[in-house]
Amino acid sequence: MEYITGKSNPICGTIRVASDKSVSHRALIIGLINHQKTIIKNLLLSDDVLHTLKNCRKLGAKIDIDKDKVTLSGGSIKEPDDLLYFGNSGTGARLSIGLLAGMPFFSVITGDNSLRRRPMNRIIEPLKRMGAAIYSRENGLLPAALKGNRLKCINYDNNIGSAQVKSAILLASLECKGDTIINDYRHSRDHTEKLLMQAGANIILENNLITMSASRIDRLMEIKVPADISSAAFLIAYALLLPNSDLTLKDVGINKTRTGIIKILELFGAKIDVINKRKFGLEPVADLHIYYQRPMMRGCNIPSELIVSAIDEIPIIAIVAASIQGVTRIRGAKELRYKESDRLQLLFKNLSAIGIKCTEYEDGLKISGSDHIESAAIKTDYDHRIAMSFIILGSVFKKKLKIIDTESISTSYPAFFRDLSLG
Ligand code: S3P
Repeated sequence: MEYITGKSNPICGTIRVASDKSVSHRALIIGLINHQKTIIKNLLLSDDVLHTLKNCRKLGAKIDIDKDKVTLSGGSIKEPDDLLYFGNSGTGARLSIGLLAGMPFFSVITGDNSLRRRPMNRIIEPLKRMGAAIYSRENGLLPAALKGNRLKCINYDNNIGSAQVKSAILLASLECKGDTIINDYRHSRDHTEKLLMQAGANIILENNLITMSASRIDRLMEIKVPADISSAAFLIAYALLLPNSDLTLKDVGINKTRTGIIKILELFGAKIDVINKRKFGLEPVADLHIYYQRPMMRGCNIPSELIVSAIDEIPIIAIVAASIQGVTRIRGAKELRYKESDRLQLLFKNLSAIGIKCTEYEDGLKISGSDHIESAAIKTDYDHRIAMSFIILGSVFKKKLKIIDTESISTSYPAFFRDLSLG
């Protein structure tokens, strides 16, 4: 599917964007292992999460979906009688490999073209140290076959700041003797820890250290999923850049491991009102108020310690940087090369194609903002965040950009066009 940009209207009013994808995957996995009922409110029903949901069913969970309420009866995981297919979702695949590494049965995990190109050694290596039997293609690519084993605890330094790696190890530790200790000094997103804690698991968080040991999850749970700050980021950018916009976004998750986008936009000179702060379980949420501020915004050097907490928002940050005055430098972001696409390369190629002055580094980008862009076709490599980012850019500039493969957007944000009134 293609989408051609060119029209836009100021965005005004109140919107609840798509629910949080990271929390949604995890809520389902917790429901799968919980021996009591788990009720999930506002689960994200996007393609990625639906793959995890179907796989939870294959693994023995009974799941009822009734409008905004999903009820899981889990606790007795069984050997799946077919492949576990995770589509485009690195989170679904990696967390499940961690969980299944310690289960006493055989399973095979795979995904779409993009997921089968993404690195899995980052989880296979520590899980093998725990004693897991995992067989994959050359260089740790999916499909991967697992023969569940008795696992032992490890100490692990999360040097790449990956929440998926950390979560895979934590889920593997549910079945293993002794204390597994993870040093998460780069503060990757901590939704797994928060949900495990809410579920009564043996997990202790102390400074950068997470200590986890075998746990039986046996607690009636209600999980309320916040709106996804990563989806909100597109609407925030749109409202900041489009004259006469004035927008309130409801129930947005503001977990401090995810709010790099707000800090970076503030460094650009934007003011974002964070109001009505409260909690959904252990997850902090708030409403965000944003309005047109493009003339006051300037590019800047983004401190690399903010990258982990804005890891999925770099594409839309690059778009904002291209639309405001001044030069923006993004460094320390090499992980972007291993996402749904090589995001640094695609951002560089597409921004250059539309006439934005841009330099690509091994670990980042330098972008000079401009007040005009050229029409071009935008290659997305089936990456939802690249597609949504360039739709925002083309719309803000009211310029024709032909965005290719936009069906990827339904992996995370099925109502994207409706929320932007671009349907
Ligand atoms: C995610 C963690 C991040 C992020 C991804 C979702 C998660 O990946 O980019 O979109 O839900 O744990 P890494 O943990 O690999 O950095």
